[in-house]
Amino acid sequence: MARIRAPRGTVDVFPEIPGTWRRLEETVRSVCRSAGYTEIRTPVFEYTELFQRGVGEGTDIVEKEMYTFLDKGERSITLRPEGTAPVVRAYLEHKMWAEPQPVKVYYIGPMFRYERPQLGRLRQHTQFGVEALGASSPVLDAEVISVLINVYQSLGLEGFVVRLNSIGCSKCRPRYKESLISLLSKQMDELCPDCRRRLDRNPLRVLDCKNERCKAIAKELPPIFDYLCEECCTHFEGVKRSLGVLDLTYELDPTIVRGLDYYTKTVFEVIHSGLGAQDALGGGGRYDGLAEELGGNPIPGVGFAAGIERAVQVLEDASGEGAGETSRVSVFVAAMGGSARLEAARIAHVLRKQGVSADLDYLDRSLRSQMKYADKQGVKKVVIIGEDELEAGEATVRDMVCREQVPVSFEKIVEFLLR
Ligand code: HAM
Repeated sequence: MARIRAPRGTVDVFPEIPGTWRRLEETVRSVCRSAGYTEIRTPVFEYTELFQRGVGEGTDIVEKEMYTFLDKGERSITLRPEGTAPVVRAYLEHKMWAEPQPVKVYYIGPMFRYERPQLGRLRQHTQFGVEALGASSPVLDAEVISVLINVYQSLGLEGFVVRLNSIGCSKCRPRYKESLISLLSKQMDELCPDCRRRLDRNPLRVLDCKNERCKAIAKELPPIFDYLCEECCTHFEGVKRSLGVLDLTYELDPTIVRGLDYYTKTVFEVIHSGLGAQDALGGGGRYDGLAEELGGNPIPGVGFAAGIERAVQVLEDASGEGAGETSRVSVFVAAMGGSARLEAARIAHVLRKQGVSADLDYLDRSLRSQMKYADKQGVKKVVIIGEDELEAGEATVRDMVCREQVPVSFEKIVEFLLR
């Protein structure tokens, strides 16, 4: 029978990786908590309309990349391609605007996008992210950026750059769009097919197109900074001032426009050159119009999301041989004979309850191969129980690092190992 393989664009995470993966998740949790963000878990699927309205009909995500299907009740369902629209939906649905503001949440979870798989681009990827809703202060934009930087710095990740821009609001962006359309229409034939197609609807995307010719054209276009209204200018100045006070370095980059429609004012990306073509570790920005788009009152919001697989890749590359764990458990209980095996199971059980990781043999291996196996697993101590030990009421505890062994009575083993 033909063997079944994993779907294209998905990955299985193997035992060496979870060390780095978990360290990343733990760091995210502790950094987010330190800034007052609490965890939110939204469903992995939502009604399709949430993303059509939230992310925007004309975006690559909604146009081409969603995993959408009809459920048995004929409702259109979509596997979430991103986490911001679901969080805002939950905020409105649970009337979180009635709680003290801002509401600050973080999330870690899988996202689904039907993209062409390549290095760093998956069809199921995992994001960590934060969303802060209910406050429009530019200091909050800087806080969100600082949380992301803090995660990377706490992990010892180096070589990343923060790129910052403002894409204005519904008052000032239309004027900029008009200018772009009128300038770009003159060079229509030179644009790539994607940019030509979306020129009328979203000319800003030409600015971050990866096509070389489009890049050269984009370089000559006026930056949006010249078009921002007074409110957006003041906000942008506030963000830059706050980042300065926090001593966070960034580069201004007018080509950062982001691929989702909900952004207003601040947008940013964190880039790492070690990632290749898909060089964004994370990105985010302010989305003051999204709550209204989803049927709520106007609620300002700002946040970011970042790819876990991409961060793990950079961390693994930097650590050389994989920063995974070297040992699965710290104690191995080796036993010979039926009653000794049961005693081994009991000791391992008690150790685990006391917080000491422990394992034992389930394959009837000889004592010699159990010791070899334990050594390969990198355990620190082996408790040896044979028929003699059972009779004497004491086991032999072997230190696998200094290769010494001592007898310890069964009653004292847990206490001895805990020491
Ligand atoms: P995004 O830029 O689409 O933003 O995704 C955030 C990050 O997820 C990217 O920078 C990248 O690291 C990772 N990522 C995205 N797509 C893939 C993929 N196909 N394979 C691997 N990694 C990927 C958002 O999703 C917004 N919701 C961010 C946000 C939060 N804005 C405000 N709040």
